[in-house]
Amino acid sequence: MSGKMIIAVDGPSASGKGTIAKGLARYFGYAHLDTGLLYRAVGYCTSQENPLMDNPEIAIKIAKNFTSDKIDNPILKTDTASQLASKVAVIPQVREALLNYQRNFAVAPPADGAVLDGRDIGTVICPLAPVKLFVTASVTVRAKRRHQELEKLLQYDVDFNSVLADLQKRDERDTQRATAPLRQAEDSILLDTTHMSIETAISQAIQLTELVLLQDNRQFACI
Ligand code: DC
Repeated sequence: MSGKMIIAVDGPSASGKGTIAKGLARYFGYAHLDTGLLYRAVGYCTSQENPLMDNPEIAIKIAKNFTSDKIDNPILKTDTASQLASKVAVIPQVREALLNYQRNFAVAPPADGAVLDGRDIGTVICPLAPVKLFVTASVTVRAKRRHQELEKLLQYDVDFNSVLADLQKRDERDTQRATAPLRQAEDSILLDTTHMSIETAISQAIQLTELVLLQDNRQFACI
């Protein structure tokens, strides 16, 4: 089966995976899907109907009716939306409902290929993606990046220790959940960005992708 090129980029929060995925998409002329936005949209819409977030049926119904216009809302970039996302991301039926949307994007992107970033792209969504990167960095470095971002955005002092504690909690939720936990796919390439600038990380990701493409002329398939 021949198909379009698929690059799967997974990793924990603030590892740089989103920026790397965007950089790869720009460089190769591929379409990019930030799959975290899907969970953020479902989390946010659920909170509008069920502020206590205690009724999984509502989250499941919203995930089943998910449409792409839901990801345009700027509110989804906030930390609150991220917290809501991590609550609905543990519900297996929500993940199941969003699976086809992600796979459809991967196999029929509006470009010659697709770059998807998330937590389970290489392990669950596109297990046969020809290129899989697992982007990581030490939790302290990720917390420093997130802290800097937040202070720039909010224009006031943010407590570093609470940013660090929040990331640790999120890592735990992402790696310990029963369905599709964050883990490195065995056939993925590890890109540790702890000691890299974002520019270096993007160029490393491009080089690694080109190496895989050169070595491997197999037909592209993803699912
Ligand atoms: O990448 P992000 O910060 O936008 O992700 C928000 C939450 O959604 C995070 O808790 C992990 C979850 N998520 C997921 O479970 N699977 C994905 N493919 C993407 C995000």
